[in-house]
Amino acid sequence: MCGIVGYIGNRESQPILLEGLKKLEYRGYDSAGIAVFTEQGLEVTKTVGRLANLEGRLQGDPLRGTVGIGHTRWATHGKPSDVNSHPHMDNTLKFSVVHNGIIENYLELKEELMHQGHRFLSETDTEIISHLIAVEYEGDIVKAVQKAVRKMRGAFALGVLTEYEPDRLVAVRYASPLIIGIGEGEKYIASDIPAILEHTRDIYILNDGEMAVLTRDGVELMTVEGNPIAKDVFHVDWDLMTAEKAGFDHFMLKEIHEQPKAYRDTMRGRLSDDGKSVSLTELSITPEQLRAINRVHIVACGTAMHAGLVGKTIIEQLARVPVETDVASEYRYRSPIITPETLVIVVSQSGETADTLAALREAKRNGARVLAITNVVGSSVAREADDVIITLAGPEIAVASTKAYTSQLIAFYLFGLHYAQVLGTQDEAFVSHVLAAMQSLPEQVEKILSQAEVIKKIAESISRHANLFFIGRGLDYAVALEGSLKLKEISYIHSEAYAAGELKHGTLALIEEGIPVISLITQEDLQEKTLSNIKEVKARGADVFAVVNEGNEAEIAKSVDSLFAIPRTLPLLTPALSVVPLQLLSYYASLALGHDVDKPRNLAKSVTVE
Ligand code: G6P
Repeated sequence: MCGIVGYIGNRESQPILLEGLKKLEYRGYDSAGIAVFTEQGLEVTKTVGRLANLEGRLQGDPLRGTVGIGHTRWATHGKPSDVNSHPHMDNTLKFSVVHNGIIENYLELKEELMHQGHRFLSETDTEIISHLIAVEYEGDIVKAVQKAVRKMRGAFALGVLTEYEPDRLVAVRYASPLIIGIGEGEKYIASDIPAILEHTRDIYILNDGEMAVLTRDGVELMTVEGNPIAKDVFHVDWDLMTAEKAGFDHFMLKEIHEQPKAYRDTMRGRLSDDGKSVSLTELSITPEQLRAINRVHIVACGTAMHAGLVGKTIIEQLARVPVETDVASEYRYRSPIITPETLVIVVSQSGETADTLAALREAKRNGARVLAITNVVGSSVAREADDVIITLAGPEIAVASTKAYTSQLIAFYLFGLHYAQVLGTQDEAFVSHVLAAMQSLPEQVEKILSQAEVIKKIAESISRHANLFFIGRGLDYAVALEGSLKLKEISYIHSEAYAAGELKHGTLALIEEGIPVISLITQEDLQEKTLSNIKEVKARGADVFAVVNEGNEAEIAKSVDSLFAIPRTLPLLTPALSVVPLQLLSYYASLALGHDVDKPRNLAKSVTVE
């Protein structure tokens, strides 16, 4: 997501900021900017697009000075544009802020500030921070930042400069990463280590609720309440490539591990204050319009389509409205029945997939209302849809999609619950029960990730096979399809996902001695049925690995060869957990076979041709 760099020292800051931002490009961004103390005061240059655009602007008109902050923005509030780019300033142009994260209560704060006569130039949540700090300023920037932070809710990392105190740079961390670099006569801030690795290997890692006041000669560390803290210096001994992957061997593994955060971020700000109901304030579709909808079509490609298959069950179960899920390249050519009472949900990580975009246009041509679930603000899909739910997974770099898929599931749960609230198909107690279970998902994913070694062993054994099967019933079947796709994409092992009950109608012929069958058995009402299907493959010599719910291990172990237990959740929510061991399975299988995990053959991250 966004990247922050800051410098205070005796060298020209502009090249240091630009180089640092380049090292953070891997986080994904759509605009960039810097603020520097020049002889004229605090000056800002910022622009939409790549860093090359920013460099182009600065070439003719460089910002000269030895203190500055820089930012790459990945849009969340407001489209990518020059004015929405960071740094942001207050109305007096004396305070400048860069921000990574989300201020949940920014609308409230913005309204209050507007009443006091503040004018805002951008649509961002960040701009209110510079205004808040300006309001609180009484001669000490540290105190002003502390007071402002106390009013803010959400996740943020900040870099703050004020023209009144040109020899101080203030940094705050609250649930978004930020580090402090320590050099001789110079100090740095950055969202991530690669940005400053060229200058120093000695850093402080800020924890949530901590802040730092940087001068050329020192760093003062404290909590946001102002209590001093001591910290050990962390010495970085990795190289740059390793640092960009935050210590993980591949972006895919890093992204698999980012899922707990992606779940939290996608939920954040979308629940009521008491956490008992859903509040999707970004939707413009009114309750009346939603009540008039008589069918839902979900349209997407690849992994996003698999999220749509889970989405179908979510919406049907929660809102009791009929849903069809289609592959986008098929949808537009099969003359689907689309009316103004149809809600078409398009799902796309990139928001640029040509087939999905074409389906969206087809739906609009036929008068349907379109809701997009996408990871990229300002993408074509986001711009053309009537409504958008942004998944806050952060940029996904590995071609094989992981955290984008699971964040799409979270978006479907939120939308399904919202829909149910509007239609009154579920009572308040049930909605709050589901939301409580959803809030446990991030920790439950962490628990699965901590047992990755178990999956690694299974992966190494399946990597020796040329063919295998995934089976499951109901939601387990939908997840089996995604598990199978993931394995094919990056390990090139042929696999088929089958509805467990359908095997006997043909594919059973392919089951022979030793063939691995990966069975998902998390839908307990269907457990007995799936176990019968497992007996059918076992009788023909299959080697069965099962993904089961915690507590059922002993019972299921009697029927399978090996198993992995996921933490217990509601049956409807299990896909958000059961897919994680399957992601790890394909990752480790690909690794065992020596393939390029992040860039598999013949695939592109974003397919913008039909
Ligand atoms: C490509 C990628 C897949 C992805 C699909 C849809 O085929 O290789 O991983 O699932 O596009 O992409 P989207 O950006 O629309 O989710």
